[in-house]
Amino acid sequence: KYEHWTKCLPQQSCKSLANSIFLFCPPSQEQDVDIYSFHINSTVTSRYAITVITSRVANRLNSSKEVHFHVKIPKNAFISKFRMTIEAKTYDGVVKQKEEAQQQYNQAVSRGESAGMVSSVGRTLEDFKTSVTVAAFSKVTFELTYDELLKRRLGKYKLLINAQPMQPVADFKIDVYIHESSSISFMDVAGGLSTDELTKAITISQSDQKMWVSFYPTREQQTKCKSCSKNGLNGDLLIIYDVERPKPSGELQASNGYFVHYFAPMNIQRIPKNVVFVIDRSGSMHGRKMHQTRLAMLKILGDLNGDDYFGLITFDSFIDVWKPELLQATEMNLKAAKAFVREIQDQGYTDINAAVLKGVEIINSHPREGSASILILLTDGDPTAGEINKEIIQANVKGAIKGKFPLYCLGFGFDVNFDFLEKMALENNGVARRIYEDSDADLQLQGFYSEVATPLLTDVQMNYIGAGNLTQTSFSQYYNGSEIIVAGQITNNSLETFQTEVIKSHNVTYQDSVSMKDLMGISSQNENFIQRLWAYLSVKQLLEKEVTLKGEEKEAVKKEALALSLKYKFVTTLTSMVVTKPQGEETQIAHKPKEGKQQHTHHSLQHALAYIPPQSKSIKIGLCSNGRRSCGLMGPD
Ligand SMILES: *[C@@H]1O[C@H](CO)[C@@H](O)[C@H](O)[C@H]1NC(C)=O
Ligand SMILES: *[C@@H]1O[C@H](CO)[C@@H](O)[C@H](O)[C@H]1NC(C)=O
Ligand SMILES: *[C@@H]1O[C@H](CO)[C@@H](O)[C@H](O)[C@H]1NC(C)=O
Ligand SMILES: *[C@@H]1O[C@H](CO)[C@@H](O)[C@H](O)[C@H]1NC(C)=O
Ligand SMILES: *[C@@H]1O[C@H](CO)[C@@H](O)[C@H](O)[C@H]1NC(C)=O
Repeated sequence: KYEHWTKCLPQQSCKSLANSIFLFCPPSQEQDVDIYSFHINSTVTSRYAITVITSRVANRLNSSKEVHFHVKIPKNAFISKFRMTIEAKTYDGVVKQKEEAQQQYNQAVSRGESAGMVSSVGRTLEDFKTSVTVAAFSKVTFELTYDELLKRRLGKYKLLINAQPMQPVADFKIDVYIHESSSISFMDVAGGLSTDELTKAITISQSDQKMWVSFYPTREQQTKCKSCSKNGLNGDLLIIYDVERPKPSGELQASNGYFVHYFAPMNIQRIPKNVVFVIDRSGSMHGRKMHQTRLAMLKILGDLNGDDYFGLITFDSFIDVWKPELLQATEMNLKAAKAFVREIQDQGYTDINAAVLKGVEIINSHPREGSASILILLTDGDPTAGEINKEIIQANVKGAIKGKFPLYCLGFGFDVNFDFLEKMALENNGVARRIYEDSDADLQLQGFYSEVATPLLTDVQMNYIGAGNLTQTSFSQYYNGSEIIVAGQITNNSLETFQTEVIKSHNVTYQDSVSMKDLMGISSQNENFIQRLWAYLSVKQLLEKEVTLKGEEKEAVKKEALALSLKYKFVTTLTSMVVTKPQGEETQIAHKPKEGKQQHTHHSLQHALAYIPPQSKSIKIGLCSNGRRSCGLMGPD
């Protein structure tokens, strides 16, 4: 059924099409399907954001019509509720174990009904879409809720809201309410929707610990801005802020038997670092990737501090060390290192094992009291030379690092096996980050480096007396601009004071003791948020931990994460949301897409197509031809 493709929106360029998993042309929105109200309401309580998107649509036709709801939500968020209301009847999405939902899905497919609420992963957002048939002259309300804990990066929290209703809307509102228990130290509103003509539609009111940002563009404003068209707004609103931190020992809050501790001391001396960069220069890095890597490395070298030590390794099937030991970041050494970086040429295969082990060896042979060591691997492919068994490489690397310093893995592009890099990073107290192949890849690399550029504490252990079910309490390094958040349950009901302790390199560095009465008095708003925050953080961390485990331990952690996901109705990688629709329409299922299972490239697009049930009625695939050749399923270009 290709009837929609003749109605492809003219401004829908090939580029934006290529970014969605299926070349999905939204059906043209005649005014007979009228989105008369579109609201986004986000409430942030001490960094925990709950966002509700409500879209109200009327079918003005005298015949029934399929009505679509398509929104983008932050990748880091968990969907926690979805509801459709048609003719005063509500249809709630139900969160189930993934396999169980899948079974239901298979049954639906075998009955000739289709499922598939396709979500694809973008850089920061993922899609949620569904549709329902609405009778003549009837209305439908879609309501989607998602939870997200804002992460502090480079001294800032960022709340990202995407709005793209696909037509001008008479009643369009975005409201963001922020309640913090400390003063808000600065705030800014950015993103494509805050530019030019649209700033007039933004109102900000701010008192000490509260902030309300509203964005109410008129129908006219929705069509007249730069990023707008006759199809209305399309863009992001980004609320950026930070809070004061009067107490170096951090900020404590509690309610309903749960507590949360935000710890981000600022006024401490930086620790000199020992950093080794292990850079893939295999043939696949050819061209722009290699160029951007050189650019980023030159800038990063320029940002090293005089008391930092550093090493450089480039590798293909051979390992090239710039210098066999760590050298101080003196002017002369940096000059020589930059000359080395300028000369990096791509060639050959990828020996990740030998390269990373060499990096570990260089760091280990240069122990330095009171410094922080960091190993950074940048690669764009699978291991193809030397040891190529991924499990053996992971075991080798883990055995060599022995938990002494973090390994960060940067996966460049989509040919990398992200699961492999992620596991290796998580096993060694680091994280894996995707570098998107784009014109700003050098800035992404620098951006990642600046997050870990200023270590302030190493071997941090957080202790709580009278509390249990804690989220992660030990952290190998704490960087300037980031934040450590620990949540848990208060297990001892007869506590009079709640005590926290932060131990750094085996010495108690920060202590705090707050009377339970004061602690409970703080948070009057949104009583439940601490418990939800605890659940959200627990699930995130359990899912990361699960990656590094095997056998029974893995199953136990998975089970725990699943139980929490089900209890708090989070759509995670272990659960799915089943949306049952009015009689006669197919059941749909929303999954959480996983980073690393990206389906951006043309190769994987073909894989994606293979998943479409043959009886599918609701997924439309085809060519959106706007006169350009590279648009569609034609081939690798
Ligand atoms: C937004 O959500 C908050 C919390 O649920 C609620 O108190 C408030 O009334 C909502 N605002 C709007 C405009 O719907
Ligand atoms: C629907 O409206 C059209 C014109 O507006 C009319 O020709 C048609 O008969 C109507 N159909 C029904 C079922 O009322
Ligand atoms: C940490 O970052 C803040 C700005 O966010 C800056 O003022 C401070 O100097 C930094 N501390 C160190 C040790 O670099
Ligand atoms: C609970 O706290 C009280 C008061 O601090 C203390 O006396 C008691 O030993 C604690 N109970 C447990 C089980 O730790
Ligand atoms: C830890 O404390 C002990 C005794 O108070 C002191 O001798 C030692 O130098 C401290 N270590 C660090 C790393 O601060």
